[in-house]
Amino acid sequence: MTRLTETDIIDVVDYLKKLDDELKTACNASFKNIVMRASGIDETSFKSLKTSVVPITSGLGIIGGFSHAVCEILKYIGADAYVCDSTDVDGIYNSIKEGHCFFSADDNRFTAYNPLNGRISDNGDATGRGFAAALELAANGIKDKTVLVAGAGPVGISAAKYLHKAGAEIILFDIDKEKLQNSEYRTCTSLGDEKYSYVIEATTSSKVITEKNLTDTAVVSAPGMPLGLEKKLAQRLKSEGRLIHNPLELGTAVMYTDLLLKQEF
Ligand SMILES: NC(=O)c1ccc[n+]([C@@H]2O[C@H](COP(=O)([O-])OP(=O)(O)OC[C@H]3O[C@@H](n4cnc5c(N)ncnc54)[C@H](O)[C@@H]3O)[C@@H](O)[C@H]2O)c1
Repeated sequence: MTRLTETDIIDVVDYLKKLDDELKTACNASFKNIVMRASGIDETSFKSLKTSVVPITSGLGIIGGFSHAVCEILKYIGADAYVCDSTDVDGIYNSIKEGHCFFSADDNRFTAYNPLNGRISDNGDATGRGFAAALELAANGIKDKTVLVAGAGPVGISAAKYLHKAGAEIILFDIDKEKLQNSEYRTCTSLGDEKYSYVIEATTSSKVITEKNLTDTAVVSAPGMPLGLEKKLAQRLKSEGRLIHNPLELGTAVMYTDLLLKQEF
């Protein structure tokens, strides 16, 4: 996973409302509806649980604004969230002792846990499902449609699994041949001039998807950081409601709704 910077997550409160409006245009669904779909729950299973965000100081340390941003995303989706006063293992201990869910991230993993039902959620997996559910809704159903999934890391693979289960044909693209070994999907190591109407961009590189790879009505759902599209192309797709991209919000909110499930996903 790419480590976020303070500038990636600035102004989260203002941004969430704007993002919700953008998603309504692109996907015909609200932020909350996309998130619940990604976890496989409906409104009747939704609960507002006491949830702490535990700052972690180890490794490269705290990213300024990160815990606050996660807390605001959780509140926006309907959790009773707060940033824990204590950090690291002490914060985790206090949260579990109180019976509260907790969210915490170090340099390598961002995870959430619900001590009331033992559910755990990982941000890579949740993010893949969140962006896949958004693409499915934007496509008005994905069954029998072809989706290019760029990036065969945890995020791309999770998106591919979700979309395959929903009936899509997956083409998995990665520059690293080893990542594609033993894949259950059709694979490629270069894009050539092939055009796609539905794309998940889950790489760590910029300028991965170019104009020549997209049909005139293509929709791109892109968790990738940095965004793997040229700036001009991204601006045009966004203005036309055909680009879904946010650095933290969808994935974090899906982690919360994952915690509401009774059984392992
Ligand atoms: N938006 C969010 O909420 C959110 C959350 C989690 C992760 N992310 C981002 O999603 C992306 C994927 O995360 P991950 O954990 O799966 O990363 P990863 O590093 O495990 O996997 C990325 C894959 O992309 C491939 N790749 C890199 N450059 C490529 C290129 N030019 N063409 C084709 N393939 C290329 C790599 O070989 C690798 O297999 C990262 O950018 C990560 O920061 C975003």
